[in-house]
Amino acid sequence: MGMPDPDYVLRVLKSIPGYVEAFKAAFPDEEEPLTYVNVGNAIGAFERKLMTPSRFDDFLKGDEEALTTAEKHGLNLFMTTGCTTCHNGMGVGGHLYQKLGLAKEWPTEDLGRYEATKNEFDKYFFKVPSLRNITETGPYLHDGSVESLEEMTAKMAEYQLGRELSDEDVKSIVTFMGSLKGRIDEEFIAKPELPADGPDTPGADS
Ligand code: HEC
Repeated sequence: MGMPDPDYVLRVLKSIPGYVEAFKAAFPDEEEPLTYVNVGNAIGAFERKLMTPSRFDDFLKGDEEALTTAEKHGLNLFMTTGCTTCHNGMGVGGHLYQKLGLAKEWPTEDLGRYEATKNEFDKYFFKVPSLRNITETGPYLHDGSVESLEEMTAKMAEYQLGRELSDEDVKSIVTFMGSLKGRIDEEFIAKPELPADGPDTPGADS
């Protein structure tokens, strides 16, 4: 965010009385609450609450009625087609790197993770994204090159798994993915109440 170094970040935060107060309140036992480490702790605490439990979670916990019959059919196809070899675990993805174009070469100039590691093996590797809230987060892929979830699903089957899906099966998998849309804790995303002498936050009412 254009910050040259950690000290500069602290200088900016300490110049804003609202933050000084908020850090004191969040770390009451510390002599100096506003440290770079605590900035990380605070952001981490925020991010760990960004959970959006969905009907799919209810289903996994044993509520068989949480998914419709069509969604259950789509889930079945999602698993039997092989999507779960990469999109699995807590986030239905989000914890591995995999090659884009594993089964069939994906047309791209972007070398992916290789650009960071210079390891030959990492060419065309990208993070396997979590599919939670996937209906809400298009366009898709690292470069936003795929617009629709239907197209994305058909291409995943073709390029990652070497399989051709019928339009009907694509639709069915997309229907399942709709059940990954989660509930947002409204209180958690409410606009914070800023102290009267607080900062002129971008996006705040003016
Ligand atoms: C071999 C691993 C692998 C398999 C199998 C796989 N995917 Fe993916 N998937 C990926 C990777 C890697 C990306 C991200 C590539 C990128 O960012 O360019 C991705 C991206 C996606 C995206 C876009 C996510 C986003 O936020 O942009 C969707 C949707 C998706 N996959 C669905 C599926 C479905 C449905 C299947 C089964 C038909 C499937 N995937 C099979 C590895 C896999």
